[in-house]
Amino acid sequence: MTEVVWYKRNPFFKSIYKAQKQWRRKIWDVFEQAHYRRNVQRSYEAARRNIVVADEDYDKYLRDQLEETLLKKKLVGERRFAVIPLIDMLRSKHDFTGANVLCVGARNTDEIKYFRQKGANDVIGIDLFTDDPDLTIMDMHDLKFPDAKFDIVYSRHSFEHAYDRRKAAMEWIRVLKDGGIVIIEVPGKYKGGGDYNRFEETEDVLGAFRPYIGEFLWNEYSRKEENTDKMDIIRVMFHVNKKAV
Ligand SMILES: C[S@@+](CC[C@H](N)C(=O)[O-])C[C@H]1O[C@@H](n2cnc3c(N)ncnc32)[C@H](O)[C@@H]1O
Repeated sequence: MTEVVWYKRNPFFKSIYKAQKQWRRKIWDVFEQAHYRRNVQRSYEAARRNIVVADEDYDKYLRDQLEETLLKKKLVGERRFAVIPLIDMLRSKHDFTGANVLCVGARNTDEIKYFRQKGANDVIGIDLFTDDPDLTIMDMHDLKFPDAKFDIVYSRHSFEHAYDRRKAAMEWIRVLKDGGIVIIEVPGKYKGGGDYNRFEETEDVLGAFRPYIGEFLWNEYSRKEENTDKMDIIRVMFHVNKKAV
């Protein structure tokens, strides 16, 4: 049996103990909030040095994305290796040894490390926010890369954050070589914090890339009852056909 400490046995001291605990929590929350706000502001300023903001709506979009990313930063570590299955799915269909890979909305270095570990050559991870020197601050709608630089553009749970998915898609195709591969995973029938898109079916994703879609490597709508992700998931992988038009 666990022993109850003396101040918890007496109702008066017990209520004082509980009150001080609650106040400590509240004071801690104030400090945490202040720290979080300062980080959002710092990241916003860093993003503004690298990202062109066309108007007020886009400015709001940028802030929304930063708020969401920084809120979830605590999850880094816990979700480590969640990125691996999608890269392994690609490996089962395509040997990317020596490939140049762009990871869009990487958030942390998990994706780029795994691609490198599995033999990719030049792997670049971009995000609106990062304090990791191995990632680059860049907007998925405005890539600072020359045409046809990459063999693969990989996006796990970032396309749903696109402000303008057609614009982002056309940028990804521009930086891909003809015959290069787009890989996208997004939630189906779901719009969470920071999401600017809700995808009802795979075509909602694919439509942004038409008519440049070539041969498919993967095209799947997986319902939550059928998978281990606890949510509907859309996964598409296809070669681009840049000569389509
Ligand atoms: C849900 S996280 C996905 C992180 C990682 N790919 C994974 O699968 O764990 C989405 C990431 O996309 C980033 N993001 C949102 N809008 C972006 C944009 N316009 N350009 C680049 N990255 C963006 C966010 O900052 C966030 O880190």
